[in-house]
Amino acid sequence: MRVAILSSEAVPYSKTGGLADVAGALPKALSQIGIDSLLITPCYLQTKGEHLWEIAIDDLWVNWRGTPYRARVFYSEANGSPTYLIDAPSFFHRDSIYGYREDYERFAFFNRAALAFLKRVNIPVDIVHLNDWHCGFAAVEIAHLRYWDQFWSNTRTVFSIHNLAYQGGFGQGELWDMGFGSEFEQNHFAFNGYASALKGGLSAADMLSTVSRKYGYEIQQSENGYGLDWLLRMRKDRLIGITNGVDYEVWNPATDKTLPAHYNYDDLTGKAICKRSLIESFGLPLDMDRPVFSIVTRLTSQKGIELIQQVAGEILNTGAYFIALGSGDKSYENFLQQLRNYAPDQVGVYSGYNEDLAHQIEAGADMFLMPSRFEPCGLNQMYSLRYGTVPIVRAVGGLDDTIENFDRVNGNGNGFKFHEFSADKFLEKIYEALFAYAEPDAWSRLQRNGMTEDNSWINAAKKYVALYQLTLES
Ligand code: ADP
Ligand code: GLC
Repeated sequence: MRVAILSSEAVPYSKTGGLADVAGALPKALSQIGIDSLLITPCYLQTKGEHLWEIAIDDLWVNWRGTPYRARVFYSEANGSPTYLIDAPSFFHRDSIYGYREDYERFAFFNRAALAFLKRVNIPVDIVHLNDWHCGFAAVEIAHLRYWDQFWSNTRTVFSIHNLAYQGGFGQGELWDMGFGSEFEQNHFAFNGYASALKGGLSAADMLSTVSRKYGYEIQQSENGYGLDWLLRMRKDRLIGITNGVDYEVWNPATDKTLPAHYNYDDLTGKAICKRSLIESFGLPLDMDRPVFSIVTRLTSQKGIELIQQVAGEILNTGAYFIALGSGDKSYENFLQQLRNYAPDQVGVYSGYNEDLAHQIEAGADMFLMPSRFEPCGLNQMYSLRYGTVPIVRAVGGLDDTIENFDRVNGNGNGFKFHEFSADKFLEKIYEALFAYAEPDAWSRLQRNGMTEDNSWINAAKKYVALYQLTLES
C-alpha cells in the first residue's frame, strides 16, 4: 500500500501547533511498520532544514487560474521518511505561515501542486491522506478526477479533522476561476452561501477521521459542530477517532537535547535540575519546595485562557510559581504580562513561540494546565505525562480520552480532570493536585503512572493502516 500524506505544516520543517507534530510523526511511524508513505508540505520562508534538501523537480508545472505556474519541489528525509516540499514563493514566502485574506487560495494551490507532483513522478498512490481544511481541495479534486483520469481511478482519500473550528471559507465565485467549475465540485464546497474548504473535504473524502474518539462524538452535536454536525452525523459510519501518538524521539526526557539534565521514571533526579534551571532562567527567586504550574499554548479562546485568568490569583495565593509560554490574542498576552508585573517573584512569562523552551517547561514544571473549551486531541498533556509533569485538564475531546483522575486510595490515574467549564471546578482539581503534591509518595506514584504510559505513534499508525485498508475495501 502506498500512502501520500498532505499537510500544511510538519515537524521538523514548519510548525505552529500540534498538526505539525502529527504530520511529522505519522509518516515516520508508517514507514517503521512497513507502509510505503511520503509526506507533501509547502516550503515556507520559515521552513527549516534547507541544508538537508535536494531538488527533486525544478519545473513542476501547475495549472493555476488558467495559466501554468512553475513551482519547484525539494526532497528531504529530515523527519525520517520521504518528504517533498512544494516551493512556490509567491504563495508561501510570507512573514507568517497563516493569517492572510487569500489563505484559501494559497492552500488550494498547494493541493493542486501536490497532485500535479504525484502525477508528474507517476507514482500511483492508493491513499491520499488529507489534513484539516487546508487539504479539503484535494479531496474534491480527486473525487472528480477519478471519473475521467485513469491515474486517479484507484486512489482513495482519507480526510482527518484536527480542528473543526477552522474552515477555510471564501466566496463561491472564486471556485470557477480556481478550476472547480463543475456542479459536482461546487456542491461539495457549498456551505451557507459561501464555499468552505473544510466542507469540501468532509463531503468528498472517502473516509473521515478525527484525532480522538470523544472529539469524534462531540463534533456530531450542534454545540460543537460549527454548522457541519449534520454532515458528520450523515457520514458517521465513515468517521473514526484515532488518538494522536507521541514521537518519543522528539519528546523524551531521557534523551531530550534541549534539557540541562536527563531523567526517566526510575530516577527523577534530573527533573529537579530541570526545575531549578527553569525557575532561574525566568529570574525568579529559587524555592524548590514550591510547585511550578505551567502552560504552553496558542493563546486562543479554544484553550480556556479565561479560566486561567480566573484562577491565577488563587494559584499565586498558594505560593506556587506560574510559568507561561504562549503567543496569540493580544488580550491574553497582555493578561500574562500584567500577571507577571503583579507577582514578579512567582510568575515567568515568555510571549512568543519557542520550541526549546516548550521542552524545558515540560521538564521543569510540576503541573501542566489545559482547561480547554474544546480540544480535538491535545498533545501537551501526553508530553507532560512522559516528562513526569502532572496534567490538570478539562474533560473534553482527547483530554478526556487520555487523562484519568488520580485516586489516592488505589493509586491509579495519571492526572486530574474536571467537566463543567467553570473556575470553581478547575480550582477544585488544582487544590486536589496540591494535596497530592504535598504527599511525596502519592506524587511520585502519580508521576510514574504517567511516565510509564505508552502513547507511541506505532499504535496509532497501526490504526491508520486499518483505516486505509477499510477505505480501499469500501
Ligand atoms: P494545538 O495544536 O491546538 O495548538 P496541541 O496540544 O495539539 O494543541 O499541540 C500544541 C503544540 O504546539 C505542542 O507541540 C506545543 O509544545 C506547541 N506549542 C504551542 N505553543 C507554543 C509556543 N508558544 N512555543 C513553542 N511551542 C508551542
Ligand atoms: C489541532 C487541535 C489539537 C490537536 C492537534 C493535532 O491543532 O487543536 O487538539 O492535538 O490539532 O491533531
